Amino acid sequence: MDTFYTYFSEKKGWAGLRELMGTTFSERRQKQTAIRNFDIICTGPEIDTEAALESTSPLNPSSTGRARPGRHRKPMPLSSKPRRRCSGRWVAVIVLVMLTLLVLLAIGAYFLKTLIDSKFFFCKTSFKFISRSLACDGKEDCANREDELMCVTNMTVNSTFPVRLVTNSSVLQVYTRSGSWRLVCGEGWQIQHTQQVCQQLGYSSNPSSSMVAVNSLPSSIKTGFSAVTPSNSTASGISDLLTDSSSCASGSVVALSCSDCGQALGSQDRIVGGTDTTIEHWPWQVSLKIDGQHTCGGSLVTPRWLVTAAHCVAGTSNEVDLWVVQTGKTSLSPWGVSVDRVVVHGKYAKNDYDIAMMRLASPIKVQAATRPVCLPPSGLQINSSEPLWVTGWGYTAEKGTVSTILQKADVPFIDRATCLKLYGSIISPRMLCAGYPEGKVDACQGDSGGPLVYKMQRWQLVGIVSWGVGCARKNRPGVYSNVDELLEWIYTVMEKTS
Ligand code: ARG
Repeated sequence: MDTFYTYFSEKKGWAGLRELMGTTFSERRQKQTAIRNFDIICTGPEIDTEAALESTSPLNPSSTGRARPGRHRKPMPLSSKPRRRCSGRWVAVIVLVMLTLLVLLAIGAYFLKTLIDSKFFFCKTSFKFISRSLACDGKEDCANREDELMCVTNMTVNSTFPVRLVTNSSVLQVYTRSGSWRLVCGEGWQIQHTQQVCQQLGYSSNPSSSMVAVNSLPSSIKTGFSAVTPSNSTASGISDLLTDSSSCASGSVVALSCSDCGQALGSQDRIVGGTDTTIEHWPWQVSLKIDGQHTCGGSLVTPRWLVTAAHCVAGTSNEVDLWVVQTGKTSLSPWGVSVDRVVVHGKYAKNDYDIAMMRLASPIKVQAATRPVCLPPSGLQINSSEPLWVTGWGYTAEKGTVSTILQKADVPFIDRATCLKLYGSIISPRMLCAGYPEGKVDACQGDSGGPLVYKMQRWQLVGIVSWGVGCARKNRPGVYSNVDELLEWIYTVMEKTS
């Protein structure tokens, strides 16, 4: 009655009384039960007993003795189910929120690191940041000039690289102490000599040698012979082991295969006028990126070294660690592996000597989608009836965009005299031209640094996409760095870079 009075007089007057009277006992019971159930969910089991006693549905039969039977009533199991439901849900929500926060935090940290990395160089020993523009050498150095260690370097080669492979069968010639190129007789040649020469050429895996009959060779290369002399000396180069000779007693000379290069998936069948292809057909093709953006193409020539164009590197930052190399993928993605050396030709200027090399931080695994291309034998004569192939993700039209899928196109070789007529004397011996007189098919922006290859028994890298006037224009063929003229530089870089 107390409650009734308070309710009537203080709160709602007669309306309140009617409201109270109009509520049946069972309705009020239900309301109270609902309120109690809510309490159970949110406060825990101490209310359980009371609620079980008053409620129409048994919450815990152990506290009521026996559950009253009813159509929809089933005894509850012994456990305090309401509480479990409550805490289980909350734990799940908390875990979910924490996980989301962690993921967001990790993403934030990644972007922050990328941002800081792009603006600052961290000196590990002196524990300080210096602006990227000061590394490689914009001056202000880290304590032990650590910021000068990972920079693009230039290299010019003045001396003759003393070993080369010639003709389609890769016959070995050595520049001996007498100052001439000489073939090497088969007699006395052993596996360790093969290993030594291949290593000197920058190859460390799968070297093998074969013998080629002297009388099957063109006279142009028979400029002299030499033979291994048994010695116990600690020779530094193969030429120290050779003695000039007028002929070979065995009648044969050494030919070498230093690498498992130039093999690709079956034969054929943007580049402007090209078609979609897959990386397994051109497994040496790589994409070079800065800030995740495709910048240029490149070609693996060993599992660790790739060849590209100097102009791809020269216009950008001098820091090696900004480069990322995507290998073994048909489609462009922002990811790749890092690089620990970048070497640009010291004579690179105005499209001449347009070559650079990069060394991957760790070698690729040679497999179907990642495999080096062969460096051609010196003085390789390209048969103009055979096509050259150019591949890349470059523009598919002169004012177009890059292609996400690797493109291929075949372009005929254009002899030097014709190319000189088309472009004039800017065509140096370090350049070669390829394309159709009417244009239509060509490399374009973004293909630079990528391969121009020629198929013999194996694929040979004969050119590097370098320049052109527009893309695929009539009488304006693509111009490529002439690998044949740059072989010595390539071998020297691989040999001399520690
Ligand atoms: N220089 C261009 C690049 O950086 C490649 C130009 C090739 N042009 C041509 N018409 N073949 O990607």
